[in-house]
Amino acid sequence: MAKNTAEQQAEKISSGYTFEGGSITLGAALVDGQVHREAHVRLPLKMMNRHGLVAGATGTGKTITLQVMAEQLSTAGVPVFLADVKGDLTGLSTPGAASDKLLARTQSVGMDWQAASFPVGYYSLGGSGEGVPIRATVSSFGPVLLARIMELNETQESSLLLVFHYADQQDLELYDLRDLRAVIQHLVSDKGKGDLSGLGGMSKATAGVILRGLVTLEAKGMDQFFGEPEFDTTELLRVADDGRGVLSCLELPTLLQQPLVFSTFLIWLLADLFEELPEVGDADKPKLVFFLDEAHLLFKDASKAFMDSITTTVRLIRSKGVGVFFITQTPQDVPGDILGQLANRVQHALRAFTPDDAKALKATVSTFPTSDYDLEAALTQAGTGEAIVVVMNEQGAPTPVAWTRMWSPRSTMGASPAGTVAEVASASPLMQEYGTAVDRESAFEVLASRQQADAAPGPGTGDAEGGAPRQREDRGTRRPSQSRPPAQQANPIMDFALQAAGILGKEFMRGMFGTRRRRRR
Ligand SMILES: Nc1ncnc2c1ncn2[C@@H]1O[C@H](COP(=O)(O)OP(=O)(O)OP(=O)(O)O)[C@@H](O)[C@H]1O
Ligand SMILES: [Mg+2]
Repeated sequence: MAKNTAEQQAEKISSGYTFEGGSITLGAALVDGQVHREAHVRLPLKMMNRHGLVAGATGTGKTITLQVMAEQLSTAGVPVFLADVKGDLTGLSTPGAASDKLLARTQSVGMDWQAASFPVGYYSLGGSGEGVPIRATVSSFGPVLLARIMELNETQESSLLLVFHYADQQDLELYDLRDLRAVIQHLVSDKGKGDLSGLGGMSKATAGVILRGLVTLEAKGMDQFFGEPEFDTTELLRVADDGRGVLSCLELPTLLQQPLVFSTFLIWLLADLFEELPEVGDADKPKLVFFLDEAHLLFKDASKAFMDSITTTVRLIRSKGVGVFFITQTPQDVPGDILGQLANRVQHALRAFTPDDAKALKATVSTFPTSDYDLEAALTQAGTGEAIVVVMNEQGAPTPVAWTRMWSPRSTMGASPAGTVAEVASASPLMQEYGTAVDRESAFEVLASRQQADAAPGPGTGDAEGGAPRQREDRGTRRPSQSRPPAQQANPIMDFALQAAGILGKEFMRGMFGTRRRRRR
C-alpha cells in the first residue's frame, strides 16, 4: 500500500486529535521532518484518567513535558500532583523569560506564548525541606508499605501484618515508629506472649529483625516522616480562588539517595487518596492528575503483595477521577500489568547504543499502533523536546501516532530563584496546620501506663486491662475501627495473610496496601 503523502498524514493527525470536549495541547505534528504548526496534538481532559506514560532517555525533555501538561491542566481547573526530584519544577511559580530562541520555537509549533506563573503548593517529606511537611502515621502507612521500606522478606512482612491487626483490634494507635516498637516489644514480652500465640504467632527472631529494622529507619532519619499531624491527601485536590488547579509540588531532592523510602511514600499518597475519594463515574475532566517521576524506582525489588496492590490501585483509581502518569526512561521500567493500563503515551527519544538498548527500542515500537512513520527511526531521531505520541480519543480508541514537537512552558524552565519555595510555603495556610509535629497519646504511652498500673500494688491494678487509656474519645479524627463502610474495597492481601495465619471471619478494616482509611475533617 502506498504511503500517505505528508499533507494527508498531517491532515489525518489534525483530525485525529480534534476533540469535542476540553483538551490540553502537547505540540504540533512533524511529518517528514517538517513541522505542521496547525496540526495540533492534544490530549482530551476526559481521558486523562486512563493514565499515561512519559518516557525517554535522559535530557530528552520529559520534565519539560510534565511542566507543559501541568500548566495547562491548572488553567483548565485541574489540580496536579508532581514529585520534583531534581528541583527543576519549582520554576512553575515564576513566569518564564522570553528569548528569541524560545519564541522561534513556540511560533513554529503554533503556540501563542505568554509568560505566566501558576498557583503552586510546595511540600516536603516530614519537613526535610522548605515546603509544608507531609507526615503519615504508621497506622495509616500500613504494613505492606512499611515492610517495603524496611526491606522485610515475605515471612517478616506477614508477621508485621499480624502486628497491625493486633494493634487495630486492641485500639492501640500506631502514630510513630515508637508506637510500633512498643507493640512489638509487648507481644514478645512475658505479658504479651498469650496475645501473640492467639494471633498465630511470630517468632522471637522475626520480632528481632523487625525491631532492628525500626532502629535502622530511625538512624536514617525516617522517624520524622511518621507521626502527626497526618497529611490529609485530599488537600491535593485544591483549586485556587481564580479557578485554576493548584500544582502540588513535593520536593524530593534526596530521593536518589533513599529511593525505596521516597518512592514508597509516593505510593502511600496514591493509596491514601484512593481510600479517601468517592467514585465519580465518567467526568469531563479529572479530579486530579498525579505524576510519578523516576517510576522505575517504584517497582524495583517489589514484593508480590506490593505489586498486586499497586496494579489494583492504578486500575481502580480511574473511577475516582484520578489520572496517574508514570515518568521513566523506557517503558520496560514499568511492569506489563501496569503498562497495559497506560493509554496516553508521550515517548521521547530512546538511545540505541547497546544490544540491550536495541532490544528495548524494538519492544517500545511494538507497543505502538501501526502508522506511516518508521518508528524505530523516529524514536532514535526525535530531537530534544520532541516525542512520539498516541493517546486515547474520546471514543476510547487510540489516536493516530504523531511525531510531535512539544509546546514550551510559560513559566520558568528549571528552578525558581532561591528563596521562592520557602516564601510560598511559609505563606500557605497549610503551614499552620501541618508545620509543627505533635505527639498525642498512642500505643507507646498506653502500653507504658498499663505496665505501670500492673507494677503498682493495691487497688486499681485489676482495672488496668480495660482502663482509661484504651478509650478513644480523645483520639481526634480517627474513624472507629468497626465502622468501615461496606462500599470500601476489601483488601485481598491482608485478607489472605490473615486467613493464612488462621484468623478467619474477623472484621477487617484496612484498605489496599493495608493503609487505613480516615474520617474526613
Ligand atoms: N518543549 C520544550 N521546549 C523548549 N525547550 C525544551 C523542551 N523540552 C526540552 N527542552 C530543553 O531540553 C532540556 C532538557 O529537558 P528535560 O529537563 O525535560 O529533560 P529530561 O528528559 O527530564 O531529562 P532527565 O532524564 O535528565 O531528567 C530543558 O532544560 C530545555 O532546555
Ligand atoms: Mg527530568
